[in-house]
Amino acid sequence: MSTEVEPAVYRNGLLTRAHRLFEIPALFDLYQVLVDGGKHAPVSGFLREVPYETVLDLGCGTGAWSYLTRTRYLGIDFSPSFIAGCRRRFANDPRKSFEVGDVESIDVAKRYDLALMMSVLHHLSDAQARRLLDRLSNCASRVVVMDLMPNPGNPISRLLYRLDRGDFIRSADAQRMLLLESGDWKLEREDSFYSYNRLYRHTLFLLCSPSLRTAASETDPIKAHAH
Ligand SMILES: C[S@@+](CC[C@H](N)C(=O)[O-])C[C@H]1O[C@@H](n2cnc3c(N)ncnc32)[C@H](O)[C@@H]1O
Repeated sequence: MSTEVEPAVYRNGLLTRAHRLFEIPALFDLYQVLVDGGKHAPVSGFLREVPYETVLDLGCGTGAWSYLTRTRYLGIDFSPSFIAGCRRRFANDPRKSFEVGDVESIDVAKRYDLALMMSVLHHLSDAQARRLLDRLSNCASRVVVMDLMPNPGNPISRLLYRLDRGDFIRSADAQRMLLLESGDWKLEREDSFYSYNRLYRHTLFLLCSPSLRTAASETDPIKAHAH
C-alpha cells in the first residue's frame, strides 16, 4: 500500500503481527460480529429507497456487503487472503466477482449503480481518498461511504480505535469535507449509528454524481430525504 504517511502498523512489530491475524477471513468476520456487530440493519435502512442494482465494493474485505445486490457485484481488496476467501465462499454465484487490487488504482471498465466504501476511508490518506473519488466519478452513479467516527466517551473504544489498522480516523465533519471536495460528488443523505455494543460509532454518507441529480425526476424518492 503506498501512503504519504507511514502507517503505524509498519512501525510497531507487535501490532503488525496482531494485525496479520485479521487477514484471516474467519477471524476478521468473528471480530466484526462480536465487537463491531449491528451494522447491517442501519445500512439496509439507509439504502432502502435508493434505486440501484449493480454494486462495486471497494475494500470488500470478506464480502460481507455483497448481499446488498442480487445482480452484478465486483469486490476489490488488496488482501489476497480476503479475495481468495471470497472466491471460495461465493464460488457458486456467477454474479459476484472479486479482484485483488488497490482501490486507488481501480480501472473499472463497466459502470456501477452504487460504489461502496465500507470502513475503508480511514485506511486512506486525504490524497488517496481524493484520487479514488475522482476515479469513481467515471464508473459509479452513487457512492455509499460508511466509516468510523470518534467515540471518545468510551475508554474501551478509544483503545480499540488506537489499535485499528487504519491511520486516518476522522470526525464526521472532516469526512464530509473530504468527500465533497473530490470528484464533484453531491451529498444526498447522511446519518450515523453505533455498533450494537456502542463500542464503535459509524458515519454513513450517500453521494451522487451531479449528472444523476440533474436527470432525476421530481418524484425521485431520494429527494424527499436530501439534506
Ligand atoms: C475494515 S476492513 C472493511 C472490509 C469490508 N468493507 C467490511 O466492511 O466488512 C478494510 C478493508 O479495506 C482493505 N483496504 C484498505 N486499504 C485498501 C486499498 N488501498 N486498496 C484495497 N483495499 C484496501 C483492507 O484490506 C480491508 O479488507
